[in-house]
Amino acid sequence: MYPYSRPFVSPASSPIRDLYKYLRDPETIGLSGGYPDATLFDIDGLREASVRAWQDTRLCLQYGDTDGVVKLKSEIIRLMERRGVRTAPENIVVTTGSQQAFDLLLTVMVNEGDVVCVEDPTYTNNIQALRVHGARMLPVRSDADGLDVAQLEDILRTARTDAERPKLLYTIPTFSNPTGATMSLARRLHLLELAVKYRFLIVEDDPYSEIRFNGEPVPSLRALAAEVDGAEDWVVHMASLSKIVAPGLRVAWSIAPTEITRRCAIAKQSADVGSSAWMQCIAAEYLAGGRLEAHLERISKVYGEKCAALCSGLRELLGEAVNFHQPDGGMFVWAKLSGDVLAADLLKQAIEQKVIFVPGAGFHVGSPDPTTLRLSFAAPSVSQITEGVRRLCSAWKALRAPA
Ligand SMILES: Cc1ncc(COP(=O)(O)O)c(C=O)c1O
Repeated sequence: MYPYSRPFVSPASSPIRDLYKYLRDPETIGLSGGYPDATLFDIDGLREASVRAWQDTRLCLQYGDTDGVVKLKSEIIRLMERRGVRTAPENIVVTTGSQQAFDLLLTVMVNEGDVVCVEDPTYTNNIQALRVHGARMLPVRSDADGLDVAQLEDILRTARTDAERPKLLYTIPTFSNPTGATMSLARRLHLLELAVKYRFLIVEDDPYSEIRFNGEPVPSLRALAAEVDGAEDWVVHMASLSKIVAPGLRVAWSIAPTEITRRCAIAKQSADVGSSAWMQCIAAEYLAGGRLEAHLERISKVYGEKCAALCSGLRELLGEAVNFHQPDGGMFVWAKLSGDVLAADLLKQAIEQKVIFVPGAGFHVGSPDPTTLRLSFAAPSVSQITEGVRRLCSAWKALRAPA
């Protein structure tokens, strides 16, 4: 009826958000969303940080610099240094969630029809953002070692014209959403070399890397770029406090080459003028307060226990019916059903049993595998997870029972 812009003539809403209505029933167990466990928020630390932030009302209640409050940028530089990344204020834009960092980057870089390679499967909201910006998405498959860089190389090698060549590659290399997989060091180095050779930007989305409960840390692509000649010019790194502190802050940032950063800041002027100075000041005080490391240790331990409860429950109760890799961190387990059981059919039964998960199809850019699903262990308690898996097993049995 109204003359909508092309992407909004018949927009698809997020398949994850669409499931939230079932969670209005308090009896339903959500193994669906990527919400952090609210019982783990560092309430005392954030309260103290809020009180300190409030001491400078002229800063926290006023408009601030579009690219971010200066003292928050200083804290981000310190935090990134601990993660092995050296950066400077002119390379940082503080954003309203890393969701906005991605959107600003697409505004700055992508014209309608431009090719963007996307690790497949991937985070649904960023598929949505790429669609809104009219990107032509090329899926690059992934496995337990993350993005299949050899397949990407084939795509790059066989592109005949500039128009066929990707401008960007979007990846979540550490504890991916939805797969939980982490890209191996060898693949990371190979990917950086390809970016330099074929001159495309790697967009590294990194909200989960500090939620590690097993194994040894792998350096981020941005950290490794310092070791590969010319690679620092070809990585945009996005990080966020959403999963490790609290998503309600909506504080995140991108780290990019200076000329991209300047353009993202200009794009942000028209997007929202600037992220909330108040929330940025709270975030700055929280980071300056030195509580993050202990907090990370605490949440990683609890998420590790929850992940173990989910994985052992799946193994014990569903056995051969489901295949998955147990992740070393993050919030998600990606599973594949065997015996031609479709995740969408299982979800219908699961809703009746009062447990929900997200069918995998919505995470795919390429042809969806209807037998995959994403399970999140972050928000429910260990006992809810155990009960949730039991209900999932009942749903599976109901589906397999002869009619
Ligand atoms: C991979 C990934 N990127 C970005 C986001 C968005 O995070 P933020 O709250 O910082 O916008 C999420 C949230 O689920 C995510 O999983």
